[in-house]
Amino acid sequence: MKVGIVFGGKSAEHEVSLQSAKNIVDAIDKTKYEVVLLGIDKQGKWHVNQPSSYLINEENPKLIELNRSNEQVAVVPGEENNQLVNLSDDNVLDQVDVVFPIVHGTLGEDGSIQGMLRIANLPFVGTDVLGSAVSMDKDIAKRLLKGAEIAVANGLTFRKHKQDELDFEQVKEALGLPLFIKPANQGSSVGVSKARNEEEFYQGMKDAFQYDQKVLVEQAIIGREIECAVLGNEAPIASLPGEVLPQTDFYSYESKYIDENGAELAAPAVLSEEQTKKVQEAAVEVFQTLECEGMARVDFFLQEDGTLVVNEVNTLPGFTKISMYPRLWDISGISYPDLIDRLITLGIE
Ligand code: DAL
Ligand code: MG
Repeated sequence: MKVGIVFGGKSAEHEVSLQSAKNIVDAIDKTKYEVVLLGIDKQGKWHVNQPSSYLINEENPKLIELNRSNEQVAVVPGEENNQLVNLSDDNVLDQVDVVFPIVHGTLGEDGSIQGMLRIANLPFVGTDVLGSAVSMDKDIAKRLLKGAEIAVANGLTFRKHKQDELDFEQVKEALGLPLFIKPANQGSSVGVSKARNEEEFYQGMKDAFQYDQKVLVEQAIIGREIECAVLGNEAPIASLPGEVLPQTDFYSYESKYIDENGAELAAPAVLSEEQTKKVQEAAVEVFQTLECEGMARVDFFLQEDGTLVVNEVNTLPGFTKISMYPRLWDISGISYPDLIDRLITLGIE
Protein backbone atom coordinates (compact mmCIF):
# COMPACT_ATOMS: atom_id res chain seq x y z
CA MET A 1 0.00 0.00 0.00
CA LYS A 2 1.28 3.44 -0.92
CA VAL A 3 1.12 6.06 1.83
CA GLY A 4 1.52 9.71 0.88
CA ILE A 5 3.12 11.65 3.72
CA VAL A 6 2.14 15.29 3.26
CA PHE A 7 4.36 17.65 5.23
CA GLY A 8 5.81 21.17 5.42
CA GLY A 9 3.21 23.68 4.31
CA LYS A 10 2.69 27.42 4.44
CA SER A 11 2.05 27.26 8.16
CA ALA A 12 4.21 28.90 10.83
CA GLU A 13 4.79 25.34 12.07
CA HIS A 14 6.49 24.34 8.80
CA GLU A 15 9.74 23.44 10.54
CA VAL A 16 7.98 21.37 13.19
CA SER A 17 6.20 19.45 10.44
CA LEU A 18 9.50 18.49 8.80
CA GLN A 19 10.63 16.88 12.04
CA SER A 20 7.29 15.12 12.56
CA ALA A 21 7.33 13.75 9.01
CA LYS A 22 10.88 12.52 9.34
CA ASN A 23 10.03 10.55 12.48
CA ILE A 24 6.96 9.04 10.87
CA VAL A 25 8.93 8.03 7.78
CA ASP A 26 11.64 6.50 9.98
CA ALA A 27 9.11 4.53 12.03
CA ILE A 28 6.68 3.32 9.37
CA ASP A 29 6.78 -0.41 8.60
CA LYS A 30 8.46 -0.39 5.17
CA THR A 31 7.61 -4.05 4.57
CA LYS A 32 3.94 -3.13 4.62
CA TYR A 33 3.85 0.43 3.32
CA GLU A 34 5.57 2.20 0.47
CA VAL A 35 6.18 5.84 1.36
CA VAL A 36 5.61 8.66 -1.12
CA LEU A 37 6.86 12.00 0.21
CA LEU A 38 4.67 14.94 -0.65
CA GLY A 39 6.38 18.09 0.60
CA ILE A 40 4.71 21.50 0.49
CA ASP A 41 7.08 24.45 0.53
CA LYS A 42 6.42 27.81 2.12
CA GLN A 43 4.93 29.15 -1.10
CA GLY A 44 2.47 26.29 -1.12
CA LYS A 45 4.15 24.45 -4.01
CA TRP A 46 4.11 20.67 -3.85
CA HIS A 47 7.19 18.48 -4.28
CA VAL A 48 7.12 14.76 -4.82
CA ASN A 49 10.21 12.74 -4.15
CA GLN A 50 11.63 9.33 -3.65
CA PRO A 51 11.47 7.75 -0.22
CA SER A 52 15.25 7.43 -0.20
CA SER A 53 15.62 11.18 0.09
CA TYR A 54 15.76 12.73 3.47
CA LEU A 55 13.45 15.31 4.87
CA ILE A 56 15.63 17.44 7.03
CA ASN A 57 19.28 18.05 7.10
CA GLU A 58 20.63 16.15 10.09
CA GLU A 59 23.68 18.39 10.12
CA ASN A 60 21.47 21.38 10.63
CA PRO A 61 19.37 20.67 13.70
CA LYS A 62 18.63 24.37 13.99
CA LEU A 63 16.25 23.96 11.08
CA ILE A 64 13.49 23.76 13.63
CA GLU A 65 14.05 27.41 14.46
CA LEU A 66 11.05 29.32 13.35
CA ASN A 67 11.74 30.82 9.95
CA ARG A 68 9.58 33.89 10.19
CA SER A 69 10.22 34.98 6.63
CA ASN A 70 8.30 33.51 3.77
CA GLU A 71 11.49 32.57 2.01
CA GLN A 72 11.34 29.29 0.26
CA VAL A 73 13.18 26.70 2.28
CA ALA A 74 14.20 23.46 0.70
CA VAL A 75 11.54 21.15 2.03
CA VAL A 76 13.25 18.11 0.69
CA PRO A 77 17.00 18.46 0.27
CA GLY A 78 18.50 16.19 -2.36
CA GLU A 79 17.35 17.94 -5.50
CA GLU A 80 17.97 15.07 -7.87
CA ASN A 81 15.06 13.25 -6.26
CA ASN A 82 12.94 16.28 -5.75
CA GLN A 83 10.40 16.88 -8.43
CA LEU A 84 8.34 20.01 -8.31
CA VAL A 85 4.77 19.23 -9.24
CA ASN A 86 1.67 21.18 -9.87
CA LEU A 87 -1.29 19.54 -8.26
CA SER A 88 -3.69 20.84 -10.85
CA ASP A 89 -2.01 19.36 -13.91
CA ASP A 90 -0.25 16.35 -12.46
CA ASN A 91 -1.98 13.35 -10.98
CA VAL A 92 0.14 13.42 -7.86
CA LEU A 93 -2.56 12.09 -5.63
CA ASP A 94 -3.21 9.17 -7.99
CA GLN A 95 0.13 7.80 -6.85
CA VAL A 96 -1.08 6.98 -3.35
CA ASP A 97 -3.73 4.82 -1.68
CA VAL A 98 -3.96 6.77 1.56
CA VAL A 99 -2.58 10.06 2.82
CA PHE A 100 -0.99 10.80 6.18
CA PRO A 101 -1.15 14.59 6.42
CA ILE A 102 1.31 15.83 9.00
CA VAL A 103 1.13 19.52 8.20
CA HIS A 104 0.58 21.25 11.54
CA GLY A 105 -1.47 24.41 11.75
CA THR A 106 -2.75 26.62 8.95
CA LEU A 107 -4.01 24.82 5.83
CA GLY A 108 -2.99 21.45 7.27
CA GLU A 109 -4.72 21.00 10.57
CA ASP A 110 -7.67 23.30 9.93
CA GLY A 111 -9.67 21.18 7.51
CA SER A 112 -8.18 22.60 4.30
CA ILE A 113 -6.09 19.60 3.29
CA GLN A 114 -8.79 17.31 4.59
CA GLY A 115 -11.31 19.01 2.28
CA MET A 116 -8.98 18.67 -0.66
CA LEU A 117 -8.51 14.97 0.07
CA ARG A 118 -12.25 14.45 0.39
CA ILE A 119 -12.74 15.99 -3.03
CA ALA A 120 -9.95 13.81 -4.42
CA ASN A 121 -11.74 10.79 -2.90
CA LEU A 122 -8.64 9.74 -1.00
CA PRO A 123 -8.75 8.25 2.50
CA PHE A 124 -6.55 10.00 5.05
CA VAL A 125 -5.29 9.71 8.59
CA GLY A 126 -6.91 11.84 11.27
CA THR A 127 -9.87 14.08 11.73
CA ASP A 128 -12.18 15.10 8.90
CA VAL A 129 -13.01 18.62 7.71
CA LEU A 130 -15.42 19.72 10.43
CA GLY A 131 -13.53 18.40 13.45
CA SER A 132 -10.24 19.76 12.12
CA ALA A 133 -11.70 23.22 11.55
CA VAL A 134 -13.43 23.54 14.91
CA SER A 135 -10.51 22.11 16.87
CA MET A 136 -7.99 24.39 15.19
CA ASP A 137 -9.86 27.56 16.02
CA LYS A 138 -9.40 27.99 19.76
CA ASP A 139 -12.33 30.41 19.95
CA ILE A 140 -14.81 28.02 18.29
CA ALA A 141 -13.41 24.99 20.15
CA LYS A 142 -13.96 26.76 23.45
CA ARG A 143 -17.54 27.65 22.56
CA LEU A 144 -18.30 23.99 21.75
CA LEU A 145 -16.60 22.74 24.90
CA LYS A 146 -18.48 25.26 27.03
CA GLY A 147 -21.70 24.08 25.39
CA ALA A 148 -20.84 20.57 26.56
CA GLU A 149 -20.15 21.92 30.07
CA ILE A 150 -16.44 21.14 29.84
CA ALA A 151 -14.28 23.63 31.75
CA VAL A 152 -12.11 26.03 29.72
CA ALA A 153 -10.21 29.18 30.73
CA ASN A 154 -12.21 32.40 30.81
CA GLY A 155 -11.27 34.52 27.87
CA LEU A 156 -12.14 37.25 25.41
CA THR A 157 -11.84 37.22 21.63
CA PHE A 158 -10.61 40.21 19.63
CA ARG A 159 -10.59 40.93 15.88
CA LYS A 160 -7.77 42.61 14.04
CA HIS A 161 -9.96 45.19 12.35
CA LYS A 162 -11.07 46.40 15.79
CA GLN A 163 -7.56 46.49 17.21
CA ASP A 164 -7.85 50.23 17.94
CA GLU A 165 -10.66 49.56 20.41
CA LEU A 166 -8.51 47.40 22.69
CA ASP A 167 -8.72 48.54 26.28
CA PHE A 168 -6.22 47.02 28.71
CA GLU A 169 -8.10 48.21 31.82
CA GLN A 170 -11.32 46.52 30.70
CA VAL A 171 -9.51 43.27 29.92
CA LYS A 172 -7.68 43.37 33.25
CA GLU A 173 -10.96 44.01 35.04
CA ALA A 174 -12.58 41.01 33.31
CA LEU A 175 -9.77 38.47 33.47
CA GLY A 176 -7.20 39.67 36.02
CA LEU A 177 -3.46 39.37 35.55
CA PRO A 178 -1.37 37.80 34.15
CA LEU A 179 -3.01 37.14 30.81
CA PHE A 180 -2.23 34.75 27.99
CA ILE A 181 -2.48 36.08 24.46
CA LYS A 182 -2.94 33.56 21.65
CA PRO A 183 -3.62 33.77 17.93
CA ALA A 184 -6.89 31.80 17.51
CA ASN A 185 -5.53 29.51 14.79
CA GLN A 186 -1.94 28.67 15.58
CA GLY A 187 -0.06 25.80 17.14
CA SER A 188 3.26 25.19 18.87
CA SER A 189 2.75 28.42 20.86
CA VAL A 190 3.68 30.52 17.82
CA GLY A 191 2.62 34.10 18.56
CA VAL A 192 1.66 33.26 22.16
CA SER A 193 2.78 35.51 25.00
CA LYS A 194 2.15 36.18 28.66
CA ALA A 195 1.22 39.70 29.65
CA ARG A 196 1.71 40.97 33.18
CA ASN A 197 1.15 44.65 32.49
CA GLU A 198 -0.21 47.15 29.98
CA GLU A 199 2.92 47.35 27.89
CA GLU A 200 3.20 43.57 27.52
CA PHE A 201 -0.50 43.38 26.72
CA TYR A 202 -0.37 45.79 23.77
CA GLN A 203 2.90 44.34 22.50
CA GLY A 204 1.55 40.80 22.81
CA MET A 205 -1.63 41.70 20.95
CA LYS A 206 0.37 43.30 18.16
CA ASP A 207 2.56 40.21 17.84
CA ALA A 208 -0.39 37.82 17.89
CA PHE A 209 -2.24 39.78 15.19
CA GLN A 210 0.70 39.12 12.89
CA TYR A 211 -0.42 35.50 12.84
CA ASP A 212 -4.19 35.74 12.82
CA GLN A 213 -7.15 38.03 12.31
CA LYS A 214 -8.57 36.73 15.58
CA VAL A 215 -6.79 36.66 18.94
CA LEU A 216 -7.79 35.17 22.28
CA VAL A 217 -6.93 36.71 25.61
CA GLU A 218 -7.23 34.24 28.43
CA GLN A 219 -7.04 34.28 32.17
CA ALA A 220 -3.93 32.45 33.40
CA ILE A 221 -4.83 29.07 34.87
CA ILE A 222 -2.73 27.85 37.76
CA GLY A 223 -2.33 24.13 37.45
CA ARG A 224 -0.24 21.23 36.23
CA GLU A 225 0.00 20.87 32.44
CA ILE A 226 -1.34 17.42 31.70
CA GLU A 227 -1.59 16.00 28.17
CA CYS A 228 -3.42 12.91 27.00
CA ALA A 229 -3.32 11.13 23.63
CA VAL A 230 -6.52 9.78 22.08
CA LEU A 231 -6.70 7.18 19.31
CA GLY A 232 -9.67 5.75 17.45
CA ASN A 233 -12.81 6.55 15.50
CA GLU A 234 -16.16 5.53 17.02
CA ALA A 235 -14.62 3.92 20.11
CA PRO A 236 -11.56 6.04 20.94
CA ILE A 237 -9.08 5.02 23.62
CA ALA A 238 -6.92 7.30 25.77
CA SER A 239 -3.26 6.87 26.66
CA LEU A 240 -1.64 7.28 30.03
CA PRO A 241 -1.37 11.03 30.65
CA GLY A 242 1.91 12.92 30.50
CA GLU A 243 3.00 16.15 32.13
CA VAL A 244 4.88 19.17 30.84
CA LEU A 245 7.15 20.79 33.38
CA PRO A 246 8.16 24.08 31.76
CA GLN A 247 11.44 25.45 33.05
CA THR A 248 10.63 28.87 31.64
CA ASP A 249 7.68 31.20 32.08
CA PHE A 250 5.45 29.01 29.91
CA TYR A 251 5.75 26.22 27.35
CA SER A 252 6.76 28.48 24.45
CA TYR A 253 7.94 27.61 20.93
CA GLU A 254 11.54 28.09 22.08
CA SER A 255 11.13 25.85 25.12
CA LYS A 256 9.44 23.22 22.96
CA TYR A 257 11.85 22.97 20.09
CA ILE A 258 14.99 25.08 20.50
CA ASP A 259 16.12 25.30 24.11
CA GLU A 260 16.97 21.75 25.14
CA ASN A 261 16.46 22.65 28.78
CA GLY A 262 13.25 24.54 28.06
CA ALA A 263 10.91 21.94 29.46
CA GLU A 264 10.91 18.55 31.04
CA LEU A 265 8.32 16.02 30.04
CA ALA A 266 7.14 13.38 32.45
CA ALA A 267 5.59 10.34 30.83
CA PRO A 268 3.62 9.04 32.55
CA ALA A 269 2.58 11.95 34.73
CA VAL A 270 2.65 11.22 38.44
CA LEU A 271 -1.07 10.93 39.12
CA SER A 272 -3.27 8.69 41.24
CA GLU A 273 -5.21 5.94 39.50
CA GLU A 274 -8.36 7.95 40.00
CA GLN A 275 -6.84 11.11 38.52
CA THR A 276 -5.50 9.16 35.55
CA LYS A 277 -8.93 7.75 34.85
CA LYS A 278 -10.50 11.17 35.12
CA VAL A 279 -8.02 12.64 32.62
CA GLN A 280 -8.58 9.75 30.20
CA GLU A 281 -12.35 10.04 30.35
CA ALA A 282 -12.21 13.80 29.93
CA ALA A 283 -9.85 13.46 26.95
CA VAL A 284 -12.24 11.09 25.17
CA GLU A 285 -15.18 13.36 25.94
CA VAL A 286 -13.33 16.37 24.48
CA PHE A 287 -12.33 14.31 21.41
CA GLN A 288 -15.94 13.36 20.76
CA THR A 289 -17.33 16.82 21.50
CA LEU A 290 -15.06 18.32 18.85
CA GLU A 291 -15.86 15.60 16.28
CA CYS A 292 -12.28 14.30 16.22
CA GLU A 293 -11.35 11.08 14.46
CA GLY A 294 -8.22 8.95 14.32
CA MET A 295 -6.06 10.92 16.70
CA ALA A 296 -5.76 14.00 18.84
CA ARG A 297 -3.77 15.16 21.81
CA VAL A 298 -5.84 16.89 24.46
CA ASP A 299 -3.98 19.37 26.68
CA PHE A 300 -5.33 20.19 30.13
CA PHE A 301 -4.53 22.11 33.25
CA LEU A 302 -5.08 20.14 36.42
CA GLN A 303 -5.94 22.59 39.16
CA GLU A 304 -5.17 22.03 42.79
CA ASP A 305 -8.81 21.29 43.64
CA GLY A 306 -8.79 18.48 41.06
CA THR A 307 -10.65 20.38 38.31
CA LEU A 308 -9.49 19.72 34.77
CA VAL A 309 -9.52 22.73 32.46
CA VAL A 310 -9.05 22.09 28.74
CA ASN A 311 -6.28 24.20 27.27
CA GLU A 312 -6.43 23.02 23.67
CA VAL A 313 -6.81 20.11 21.30
CA ASN A 314 -4.34 19.20 18.55
CA THR A 315 -5.78 17.06 15.77
CA LEU A 316 -2.37 16.70 14.10
CA PRO A 317 -0.14 16.63 17.16
CA GLY A 318 3.62 16.83 16.88
CA PHE A 319 5.56 13.68 16.08
CA THR A 320 8.99 15.22 16.71
CA LYS A 321 11.56 13.54 18.93
CA ILE A 322 10.28 15.34 22.00
CA SER A 323 6.60 15.12 21.14
CA MET A 324 4.14 13.69 23.61
CA TYR A 325 1.68 11.95 21.28
CA PRO A 326 3.83 9.00 20.15
CA ARG A 327 5.62 8.93 23.49
CA LEU A 328 2.40 8.57 25.45
CA TRP A 329 1.33 5.66 23.27
CA ASP A 330 4.72 4.07 23.65
CA ILE A 331 4.42 4.05 27.44
CA SER A 332 0.84 2.84 27.07
CA GLY A 333 1.95 -0.23 25.11
CA ILE A 334 1.64 0.89 21.47
CA SER A 335 5.05 1.18 19.82
CA TYR A 336 5.79 3.90 17.25
CA PRO A 337 5.51 1.59 14.18
CA ASP A 338 2.35 0.02 15.58
CA LEU A 339 0.87 3.47 16.20
CA ILE A 340 1.51 4.54 12.59
CA ASP A 341 -0.03 1.29 11.38
CA ARG A 342 -3.13 1.78 13.54
CA LEU A 343 -3.54 5.38 12.39
CA ILE A 344 -3.41 4.36 8.75
CA THR A 345 -5.87 1.54 9.37
CA LEU A 346 -8.24 3.96 11.12
CA GLY A 347 -7.88 6.34 8.18
CA ILE A 348 -9.01 3.79 5.63
CA GLU A 349 -11.72 2.25 7.80
N1 DAL B 1 1.06 21.95 17.32
C1 DAL B 1 2.11 21.07 17.75
C2 DAL B 1 2.73 20.38 16.60
C3 DAL B 1 1.66 20.12 18.78
O1 DAL B 1 0.61 20.32 19.31
O2 DAL B 1 2.36 19.18 19.07
MG1 MG C 1 -0.52 22.60 23.65
